[in-house]
Amino acid sequence: MSLPVDHETVVPTSGAQWWRQAVVYQIYPRSFADSNADGIGDFRGIVSRIDYLSSLGIDAVWLNPFYPSELADGGYDVIDYRDVDPRIGTLADFDALVAALHAHDIKVLIDIVPNHTSNLHRWFVEAVDAGRGSAARERYIFREGTGPDGAEPPTDWRSLFGGRAWTRVPDGQWYLHTFAREQPDLNWSNPEVHEDFLTTLRFWADRGVDGFRVDAAHMLAKDMSEPLPTQAELDVLPRDGSHPTLDRDEVQDIYAQWRTVFNAYDPPRTAVAEAAVHSSRVPRYASPATLGQSFFFDLLLCDYDAPTYRRIVDDCLSVAAESGSSVTWVLDNHDTIRHASRYGTPYPGANPDGTPIRKHGGDWLLAGGDPTMIDAARGLRRACAATMLLLALPGSAYLYQGEELGLQEVSEIPDAARQDPSFFRNRAIEVGRDGCRVPLPWTRTGTSYGFGDGGAHLPQPLWFGHYSVEAQDADAGSTLALYRNALALRRELQGGEALEWVETGRDDVLHFRRPGGWQVIANFGTEPYPLPAGEVLLGSGPVGDDLPSETAVWLRV
Ligand code: NOJ
Ligand code: CA
Repeated sequence: MSLPVDHETVVPTSGAQWWRQAVVYQIYPRSFADSNADGIGDFRGIVSRIDYLSSLGIDAVWLNPFYPSELADGGYDVIDYRDVDPRIGTLADFDALVAALHAHDIKVLIDIVPNHTSNLHRWFVEAVDAGRGSAARERYIFREGTGPDGAEPPTDWRSLFGGRAWTRVPDGQWYLHTFAREQPDLNWSNPEVHEDFLTTLRFWADRGVDGFRVDAAHMLAKDMSEPLPTQAELDVLPRDGSHPTLDRDEVQDIYAQWRTVFNAYDPPRTAVAEAAVHSSRVPRYASPATLGQSFFFDLLLCDYDAPTYRRIVDDCLSVAAESGSSVTWVLDNHDTIRHASRYGTPYPGANPDGTPIRKHGGDWLLAGGDPTMIDAARGLRRACAATMLLLALPGSAYLYQGEELGLQEVSEIPDAARQDPSFFRNRAIEVGRDGCRVPLPWTRTGTSYGFGDGGAHLPQPLWFGHYSVEAQDADAGSTLALYRNALALRRELQGGEALEWVETGRDDVLHFRRPGGWQVIANFGTEPYPLPAGEVLLGSGPVGDDLPSETAVWLRV
């Protein structure tokens, strides 16, 4: 498949279109670097590592939520949308971080969490106090219970973290929470909620934020008219916007309002939707009239398999092109088992019919997460090959902190040290996401492997030092060097957003061309593949005349 190049053929690094092919590095602030020895990463810690960020060759960072929070869900339970958690810093520290990043030509995206607040948000505290029928309750979704005395929840809906989606307050009403009970859902039928979020967007855009990652973007609009459907009815997601609580057409009215705010800035602020919707619905979120871009999680969910990758690349490129957007390619994030481990597990990531298993690698964690069950070397080899393929695709690339070190998932976290609500609420089927959120190793040895002088809020395993920045920094054969080299080359090679497949005669080998003579070959199989003529620019592993098994290469032809 070949896509027409219908916009700039030279990749802009600034101006309104900077995001189209940007490399965005995701920082989970609590686990990046700790400046004041309290075991929690903070803004000053990030600033102290600015040279490292700059050395990677990224275009932007995305900061996971740093707002005041009780951490019922890793910060996705926001107490105040226009402030910084004191454990992470102050607004002045935030400004200093943005200034430092901008001084290094790195843009800043922040997470915005509009579906739910924290139960400690002043609005929710007020809602509980103010009682039924009050204006304060209208900012959330309160309903009467069913059964004698309304002692049963309004519906049988389940929270995505397990357990009921409704919790009762002392006066007997119930409130809806799609996630943990500490995350009450906002009522987006209330204009006050709209206004408040517009104020929040302006607040951060005025402070120099370049864009927003919109959490659970498909959940805001809900039809809560009676009779409410059952969970079984909610389990089916139609493609026509008629689901009662997900991906409703009206949600785009909210983003059209947000777009007006984004476009009032120069350059316009950008946004990327986290929306688990049918691909046919993605263009609604990724339209220039709404959020502009949407995440594609297909590579994050699928097996390491050439035909699957090829199908996904074609599908995602054509879906993104429908709204004139670009694809966001992702292999790792703060919700997923690290791809260096996923690709080394004995468990598949897809069902026999090709549909992804919700959590690839989750079976391994549930089975005890024994690190010896993982083929770590193979997982890393495949991960690096997959990353090189991803970095050569047209569109933007999202990298998650630590993947550039080839970090494996940390499975050996004692139950008592776990933090993720999905572990506590759903432990029979979900071990949770703490294993990819363990504070980064900066040094081979020492207190918290250089993360800070006061321990780490999630325990780091003994093998962490081996993956540290210090251990890899000067090693030309390290995973870190591969990422740096690939990002530097990508900057040089990236041109128009076209991709053309070259047939290889093998199902397990993919080959595509990008404009300007950039060619990419990825051997997913076990047999070597003879390389065509061309200058080898970079390999995910050693490359000779043949491309070895589970290796990718960039050529200039
Ligand atoms: C998606 C976020 O990525 C995840 O970490 C969070 O738990 C949920 N949204 C709820 O905010
Ligand atoms: Ca700290």
